[in-house]
Amino acid sequence: MSEVVILSGSPSENSRTDLVLQYAGEKLKHEGLSVSYVSVRNIPFDDIFNLRFDSPSLKELTLLIQGAEGVIVGSPVYKAAYTGVLKALLDLLPQDVLAQKAVLPIMTGGSPAHLLAIEFSLKPLLAALKGQSQQGVYFQECQIDKTQVANPIIDDNVLARLKKELYYFSETVNKKKGFALKN
Ligand SMILES: Cc1cc2nc3c(=O)[nH]c(=O)nc-3n(C[C@H](O)[C@H](O)[C@H](O)COP(=O)(O)O)c2cc1C
Repeated sequence: MSEVVILSGSPSENSRTDLVLQYAGEKLKHEGLSVSYVSVRNIPFDDIFNLRFDSPSLKELTLLIQGAEGVIVGSPVYKAAYTGVLKALLDLLPQDVLAQKAVLPIMTGGSPAHLLAIEFSLKPLLAALKGQSQQGVYFQECQIDKTQVANPIIDDNVLARLKKELYYFSETVNKKKGFALKN
């Protein structure tokens, strides 16, 4: 079990969203947290399209999230919202799977015009799973350099916003961890 689960909703093989999420995960590991990554690409599409609620991969993902203190959900913007495949996957998870978790939403998009996709699409989706999201961070694709895997975020302002959000996120995860240990 990990304290943090990072879920990517990008179906791209060479994904900017995944680079940002990996970067965030490394920062959290550096803070001493244990982190697991899951991508929509890791879940057999047959399970998703055939609504196999009880498939081993979906059960495993559910247990992973239920055992974590915090969840980061990242998605590229597709047609002004999160990806369809992320929605199709989340449709198969328990309705309250994000209850009591620290939740950090992250989106990447091609244009600044869809900055509010995080407010109007991803946060309501996470709220439907009983997740109370932090503010979150939206990246424009031009702020992510795919050739720099270790430090892919090339815009200082958005990098500072991510670091601040990760700080709040790790604080909440640590509080929840302390509470879980006491009880
Ligand atoms: C099918 C598709 C639809 C997209 N729709 C939008 C959109 O509506 N608004 C936007 O800002 N970017 C849009 N984009 C651009 C992606 O959001 C952007 O390139 C993102 O960083 C890709 O992330 P990824 O590399 O993790 O897949 C779209 C890209 C694709 C492939």
